[in-house]
Amino acid sequence: MKYIVFVLFLFATCQLQAAERTAFIDDLMSKMTLEEKIGQLNLPSVGFDVTGPILSEGVEKKIEQGHVGGVFNTFTPNAVRKLQELAVTKSRLKIPLLFGYDVIHGHKTIFPIPLGMAATWDIDLIERTARAAAREASADGLNWTFSPMVDIARDPRWGRVAEGAGEDPFLGSRIAEAMVRGYQGTDLSKNDTILACVKHFALYGASEAGRDYNTTDMSRLRMYSEYLPPYKAAVDAGARTVMTSFNEIDGMPATGNRWLLTDLLRNEWGFTGLVVTDYTAILEMVNHGVGDGPKVSELAINAGTDMDMVSEFFVKYLPELVKSGKVDEKTVDAACRRILEAKYDLGLFEDPFRYVSEERAKKEIRSADKLELAKEAALKSFVLLKNDKNVLPLDASKKIAFIGPLVDDKRNLIGSWSGAGDWKQAVSIREALEAKFGKDKFLFAKGCNLIEKGDPLYERLSKADDNLKKEGLRTDLLVEAIKTAEKADVVVVVLGETYDMSGEAASYSHIELPKNQSTLLRALSKEKPTVLVLMSGRPQNLNIDNSVVAGVLETWFGGHRAGDAIVETLFGDSNPSGKLTMSFPHGAGQIPVYYNHKNTGRPLDENQKYTTKFLDIPNEPLYPFGFGLSYTTFSYGDVKLSDSKLKRGDKLTASVEVSNTGSREGTETVQLYLRDVVGSITRPVKELKGFQRITLKPGEKKTVSFEINEEMLKFYNAELKFVAEPGIFKVFFGGNSRDVKEATFELTP
Ligand code: NOJ
Repeated sequence: MKYIVFVLFLFATCQLQAAERTAFIDDLMSKMTLEEKIGQLNLPSVGFDVTGPILSEGVEKKIEQGHVGGVFNTFTPNAVRKLQELAVTKSRLKIPLLFGYDVIHGHKTIFPIPLGMAATWDIDLIERTARAAAREASADGLNWTFSPMVDIARDPRWGRVAEGAGEDPFLGSRIAEAMVRGYQGTDLSKNDTILACVKHFALYGASEAGRDYNTTDMSRLRMYSEYLPPYKAAVDAGARTVMTSFNEIDGMPATGNRWLLTDLLRNEWGFTGLVVTDYTAILEMVNHGVGDGPKVSELAINAGTDMDMVSEFFVKYLPELVKSGKVDEKTVDAACRRILEAKYDLGLFEDPFRYVSEERAKKEIRSADKLELAKEAALKSFVLLKNDKNVLPLDASKKIAFIGPLVDDKRNLIGSWSGAGDWKQAVSIREALEAKFGKDKFLFAKGCNLIEKGDPLYERLSKADDNLKKEGLRTDLLVEAIKTAEKADVVVVVLGETYDMSGEAASYSHIELPKNQSTLLRALSKEKPTVLVLMSGRPQNLNIDNSVVAGVLETWFGGHRAGDAIVETLFGDSNPSGKLTMSFPHGAGQIPVYYNHKNTGRPLDENQKYTTKFLDIPNEPLYPFGFGLSYTTFSYGDVKLSDSKLKRGDKLTASVEVSNTGSREGTETVQLYLRDVVGSITRPVKELKGFQRITLKPGEKKTVSFEINEEMLKFYNAELKFVAEPGIFKVFFGGNSRDVKEATFELTP
């Protein structure tokens, strides 16, 4: 009874608050001119970072005129205060501005890149990093982050795989929800919670050939089952804003796609927040070829876009479009209302300077707890891909040489989209080694430049990368490195991409180490047992390099604390537990390769010619989804089911006993996959449906259980209805998607 009264009370309070908000906004909008309403839809970029042409001029004047709803790329209390003051003292209606920024993997304390964060499979940790980023960003004047990016990506040529959670819709959805919770908290009006923005809606990760901004095209069935779930999960978790993607869908750019933004997002999913475009996405619709400036603005607003990032087309064309009747003023009103609602919920009308505080900034930015969290995240993100003869962890009493252009590097450690993060604050591997063991303990050599002059990568990247410009000059590095390796018992080679080889506008067809780096690796591995410490923003083609090294530790771009986390892992103070969230292919020719594929009518049979295969490489990737070794070993018992039949609406329990069979404590991510063996349409060979991270001491065993219910068996059928069909299901348990134990049960009618 008490509970019912409480729920009714909560409901009544929410209704009251909603009514207050509506009344406030009604009143405000009744005073607004059409131009002022359109002004709210304008989001120019002012300040530090740009990802395209800078189009906005005289923004300060425009703010005073009420022609700006928010700005992005402006942060720090000082800079934000200056613009906010203009808005709330000089503009006629004194409407405060939104301040947005790309807080992607931390604001000023940088965590591992999102692909690395995903490899932790630690949802609580991911939420804590988003929370920490929100605390830091909100203290620095920001109230809106353009994150999480939840685009499913199966093509490692696409540089932006670095910014997402990888190939799986289930894991991607859990991560999307956690990030929304972390940024927005439970009360947006608090001074340390900010708006999340789910991006890039939609299907941006499926660009053809992995070339950024390229066309996408896919069936509705694939969209609903494989690509849309993480966006929907983020919306269901309460994300207040959504960003449109650059790509087209069914021949219409997302920003002008009414089916996407209105039918699906608003009507089907019930999204009530605001939709912002990506950078100049309205203007780019002209290049896409769907109209001139006025036409694309009309398409965008009528499709359901609320806010125009950088193009300034809404401000330019909407007044006339409304006058001519091509756009209903009610449509502008609705967009304006959604932006004002966001401002209201942030508490900006109550206090426009809620997010501006030098004092909080001093306390929050790069605070000790955040730097500690950055280390925890880095440690958990590393994936041990290979460890022949237990070459790792290293024995510090041996002579060890650390060779490679990334041993003594800081710039690349924090990765792409490290926003406001200062790379000079990163701990390099060499610094961490020297701090732990003293200056003279190890041998060091650079070995090679990051990318050699003459490599096409160099020509393109060095234009914008000052560090790289200084590279490519020394030629005597290889000889020096070989001499250094000769003196060592073990060689650790730290190689990989530069931070700008992945991320936006960084598609890469070879997905392998730059040539000079693999030449170095091969030369060194002839000398001594070699461990490759890899830094990359994408799955790499390790096929050849792998055959010459004894160990491979993938460390992504690990953020500010990458250096000390790598050293702790290499020497065994920490046991790696990361698991891949994107398959590592045998080579670019195998792309796309992902674990949850269909069976085909001719599954591989080595005894038959006419079955699905490559002539030169296996069908399976080099390292599958979910894969990652540990310094200890785990074994899985048989799959136990509480029943062999499941009635609709009922549930059963699936469990497995996992044992630590090695000699160290370690953490394993136990993964549950299901397969619907026969369906009214074809079903994937496996789909992730659950996971649990468990830590076991040597010799320890633990039974890990999952509930299986009808909901988990549902899929989108040919009519796009989300249904579970009776029949046989397989249950798989394993430490990766390939090496699994299985059992079956039946869903009865
Ligand atoms: C373009 C990127 O696609 C998007 O992710 C980012 O949020 C905007 N630029 C703003 O910087």
